[in-house]
Amino acid sequence: MIGQADPYQEIPMSKKVYLQTFGCQMNVYDSERLTSLLLLEGHKITNNPKDADVIVLNTCSVREKAEKRALGRLSEFYRYKQKNPQVMLVVIGCMAQRMGEELVKQMPYLNLVLGPDQIFQLPIYLENNKGYSQVAVCPSREDFDSHKIWEQEILPERKTPYTSFIAISRGCDNFCSYCVVPYVRGPERHRPTDQIIREIQFLTESGCKEVTLIGQNVNSYKFKGKDFADLLEMANDQTTIDWIRFMTSHPKDLPGKLIDKIATLPKICKHIHLPLQAGSDKILEKMNRNYTAGDYLKLVERMKERIGDVSLSTDVIAGFPTETKEDFKKTLDIMKKVKFDSAFMFRYSIRVGTKAASLIDDVPEEEKLERLHVLIKLQKEISKKKNQKLLGKTFQVLVDDKSKRDKNRWKGKTKTNKTVIIEGDRNLLGKIVSVKINGADSFTLFGNLGGVNFDEKICRLQL
Ligand code: SAH
Ligand code: SF4
Ligand code: F3S
Repeated sequence: MIGQADPYQEIPMSKKVYLQTFGCQMNVYDSERLTSLLLLEGHKITNNPKDADVIVLNTCSVREKAEKRALGRLSEFYRYKQKNPQVMLVVIGCMAQRMGEELVKQMPYLNLVLGPDQIFQLPIYLENNKGYSQVAVCPSREDFDSHKIWEQEILPERKTPYTSFIAISRGCDNFCSYCVVPYVRGPERHRPTDQIIREIQFLTESGCKEVTLIGQNVNSYKFKGKDFADLLEMANDQTTIDWIRFMTSHPKDLPGKLIDKIATLPKICKHIHLPLQAGSDKILEKMNRNYTAGDYLKLVERMKERIGDVSLSTDVIAGFPTETKEDFKKTLDIMKKVKFDSAFMFRYSIRVGTKAASLIDDVPEEEKLERLHVLIKLQKEISKKKNQKLLGKTFQVLVDDKSKRDKNRWKGKTKTNKTVIIEGDRNLLGKIVSVKINGADSFTLFGNLGGVNFDEKICRLQL
């Protein structure tokens, strides 16, 4: 049984915090900014939960599996707390927002539950540690912070100094029928354009080579008359960053003006993450995606024509309610036609409170799994063939780490978002180098330094 904290034991003002993150880039970014804030407040970060005064779990609710993982991890942390009752156990992020009070009913030993818009209050709670079961989440969508969330200009504390996420918006208004994000992240709110530009330049001056502009639907960005295409142009023209990535793009909001900017602005990476979700018009309508398979294919054609060598990735869901074998075949057909460079594939997971939750979840779990395996197998073959076509070609690669498998090799990414493992004994960290591809599988390219491309002069100068 868990004991009460000893009131006479001295509680240090500066805490050792262990922070683990589940979920998407937005959660990673939130955790990175929270880390910065904690460090600014004089706390320390530890990589070992057993060594921590405060254990924080930033959670995701997008699928049941994500929540199960978080709950499993929390029961592990509970064991540490049983050994040391002074440890503060904190749940933040999307599952915290979705479950709120319910979470502390299930786990009364939790000290604190903070929704995504409350996470920056953590240092205040650390200072006034009041014990157990404090919950601060937004009671409804109307209560999400309308703009204050941007007031604190906190730069993310990143794993690598060469790359960074920058959120340009938060929340989502699209209400895809399967998705919990609009409920747990609140309404779409856009960040002031000048703040984004300032942040990109600041990061650049502190050594960052590449930024990824993130939002649930970056294409719908608007702020005082500026849209996403304008923002890309400003970021390209008014900052000295090398590369600019962005995600996620919704197919319903990709006008010709934006495609033209992606095609022509030199710093913009020619990679578009464009979730398809399904290939059947019946399913797309039930998902409330606001496009048909035909619209999607036309859009892809336009992008392929206009943006030479564009790289496309996607998200696909297998086994949405009422999806028949014929509907599913339409998803496979469109994947064969588009030939995505890569894809994230999921089986449908019912989310309480969403519109799709009122539909009968009529595709049996084994069938969902079977469809998922078919999807993965197909995409693996497509990715491999596409990657093997790149053998002998030369790409610019931003090196951000050592290879995990072989510490004598380097790892980086092309502008088209392909992971490349590079031979080389020189220190390449943080450099943009020319790499000639000599090997490829479904997920990775392999290569050597060298090769000639039109940007080589610039690359050599940076070496
Ligand atoms: N805003 C982004 C990311 C949303 S979450 C977008 O619109 O793409 C990432 C992916 O999770 C989604 O694209 C979708 O494919 C998947 N997803 C969301 N809800 C799901 C659910 N209930 N079951 C299975 N997959 C889901
Ligand atoms: Fe979810 Fe759709 Fe919003 Fe993406 S666009 S976060 S899938 S509701
Ligand atoms: Fe998950 Fe929240 Fe992102 S639900 S996918 S962490 S916005």
